[in-house]
Amino acid sequence: MAEEKMLITGERRLEGTVRVSGGKNTAVAIIPAAILSQTPCVIENLPNIEDVIVSVETLRYLGAKVTWSPEEGIMEVDPSTITKTAIPEELCSRMRASSYYIGALLARFGEAKVPLPGGCTIGRRPIDQHIKGMRAIGAQVDTDRGGTVLAQAKNGLSGGDVFLDMPTVGGTINVMLAASRAQGITTIYNAAKEPHIVDLANFLNSMGCKVKGAGTDVIRIRGQQNLRPRRPYAVIPDQIETGTLMIAAAATHGDVTVTGCIPTHMEALTAKLLEMGARVDEKDDAIRVRSIGAHRGVTFKTQVYPGFPTDLQQPMSALLCTATGSSTVVENIFESRLRHLAEMERMGANVRVFERTAVIQGVPKLHGAAVEASDLRAGAALVVAGLMAQGTTEITGTHFIDRGYEHLEDKLSSLGADIRRSKDA
Ligand code: EPZ
Repeated sequence: MAEEKMLITGERRLEGTVRVSGGKNTAVAIIPAAILSQTPCVIENLPNIEDVIVSVETLRYLGAKVTWSPEEGIMEVDPSTITKTAIPEELCSRMRASSYYIGALLARFGEAKVPLPGGCTIGRRPIDQHIKGMRAIGAQVDTDRGGTVLAQAKNGLSGGDVFLDMPTVGGTINVMLAASRAQGITTIYNAAKEPHIVDLANFLNSMGCKVKGAGTDVIRIRGQQNLRPRRPYAVIPDQIETGTLMIAAAATHGDVTVTGCIPTHMEALTAKLLEMGARVDEKDDAIRVRSIGAHRGVTFKTQVYPGFPTDLQQPMSALLCTATGSSTVVENIFESRLRHLAEMERMGANVRVFERTAVIQGVPKLHGAAVEASDLRAGAALVVAGLMAQGTTEITGTHFIDRGYEHLEDKLSSLGADIRRSKDA
């Protein structure tokens, strides 16, 4: 089958204004939460990306009535017609966040059968903490040899204390979903604090749940049986798309304003761009990034929120390839999230990788090459590199990019990039 490619001719300054889409990682958590409601839910500001498409297909497979207008980003879910509590392999293999259906189905129906994708290119991605949390509130959870999770709560779920070994985003979300209809109070200690954890808490509370402390490392959930939304809920803007567009602006020495974003979500990246010598101006719901002279190399280490996000490590490391001097990148969250750098070397980058640490020696220029995206944010890194490089870069694996970025090439073209897709004959 013809392989689709993204072709970028680099060295063009990005200039102008671009609006960020709704958040991928918040959407894939809030959509399954609609299962918890007694009545139909309306969710707005959803991005038209592969992960949302798979979420719609999953809800429809379970029996929910779903109407979705991709370009308006509005979805209505009526969960009252759901009849299934098992999800097939082919749906789960297309979206990492399928694990959230364990917590949601367990809370609503007292059972769930969800085959989980194993590891991926960035790491093993275990869910032991998800399982630990559900057991702590009364669920029986087993995993069969094929990796299918079987969860049951014959006597219903009752509140409990959950001590997470690490502030896992997915683990926190899954336990919040499971606990939302449990009898009594569930307390999650060492909870993740990412913006989409707060967004999920706000959505659950808009349905009548009682979630307190989201955004801190202790979250308390008083489960409610009768959850029903009182109004449509708009998901927050995508923190990682915002950051990717900010990095692309700096990479092309451009002048770009990203609108519809939340500047406080971007502080770790903003601080690093300023340290590199870029200019960043924040407004209420917009961030302007300008960059004129050479960038200074910096050191950064990925951390849980509000530290430097692991999802921006890959595009940021592309930007550092042409910074002056040496930069050091430490990937503390996932065990193998530096593989994109080998593709950068094909474009002339000077990188040495030791386990989770990359030392990047800035070079004057990158040159275009045929490169392959190995995962979603590696794809974003290659796009940033292509925008910087002399000549044309051909990127394959564009389906990874489509999982998390809505109309990325349209957005970049509107800012002056020379970027298009082509199918090999
Ligand atoms: C979410 O993944 C995001 N995915 C990831 O975004 C993001 O990189 C990650 O959070 C960190 O912010 C979605 O939201 C759909 P974790 P998740 O559980 O939930 C270990 C993207 O590009 N761990 O916080 O899987 C795990 O192995 C994607 O948009 C356990 O050991 O992240 C990892 O090393 C990529 N046991 C670390 O914790 C568990 O039970 C962080 O994982 C769970 C996690």
